Amino acid sequence: MEGLIVIRPLGADDLEAVLQIQAQCPEIVAWSRAAYAPVVCGNYRGWVAVTGPQVLGFLVSRQTLEEAEILNLAVRPEARRLGLGSQLLARALEEARRAGVRRVGLEVRASNVAAIRFYERHGFRLQGRRRDYYSNPREDALLYGCVLAPSQPET
Ligand SMILES: CC(C)(COP(=O)(O)OP(=O)(O)OC[C@H]1O[C@@H](n2cnc3c(N)ncnc32)[C@H](O)[C@@H]1OP(=O)(O)O)[C@@H](O)C(=O)NCCC(=O)NCCS
Repeated sequence: MEGLIVIRPLGADDLEAVLQIQAQCPEIVAWSRAAYAPVVCGNYRGWVAVTGPQVLGFLVSRQTLEEAEILNLAVRPEARRLGLGSQLLARALEEARRAGVRRVGLEVRASNVAAIRFYERHGFRLQGRRRDYYSNPREDALLYGCVLAPSQPET
């Protein structure tokens, strides 16, 4: 993958590409176009990793006062293991930290070894399991969480 990678907020014009990426990722829950409306209108937060006009990955999160949840994260299969998922996650965690969030949680399919390794590498720890949480195929969800250190005041 050549060219400068930029992480920027997910906008309405990115939805086509995001839906395409979703279609290539059976590991995640495929949202409808309408389900992305809260991201575009700002109730959820979303970011995309782009090179030029091409969207290579995206992350969507939801934030309350002290907690955030990673709702969906995916990188195009041909652009994986290049650090894009890490850049998207770093951006989401940094913005959450700045907003005063202390705890971040997520759910992942129990068989999704790549995502589990990825999140463990980024400091997430296993906190529980929801039996038969996913369908097609039916599978348990593992609950992962991490605690964010408060952000340092800027000097
Ligand atoms: C999980 C996912 C987003 C990771 O994105 P990525 O851009 O490939 O991740 P990075 O390149 O930043 O990987 C960082 C580290 O995570 C771990 N990791 C990532 N993919 C891995 C894999 N397939 N197997 C083992 N470890 C993996 C490694 O430690 C990796 O570092 P390394 O490449 O130096 O060994 C990507 O695999 C993906 O889109 N999967 C399908 C969708 C999905 O499962 N989303 C998560 C739903 S909860």
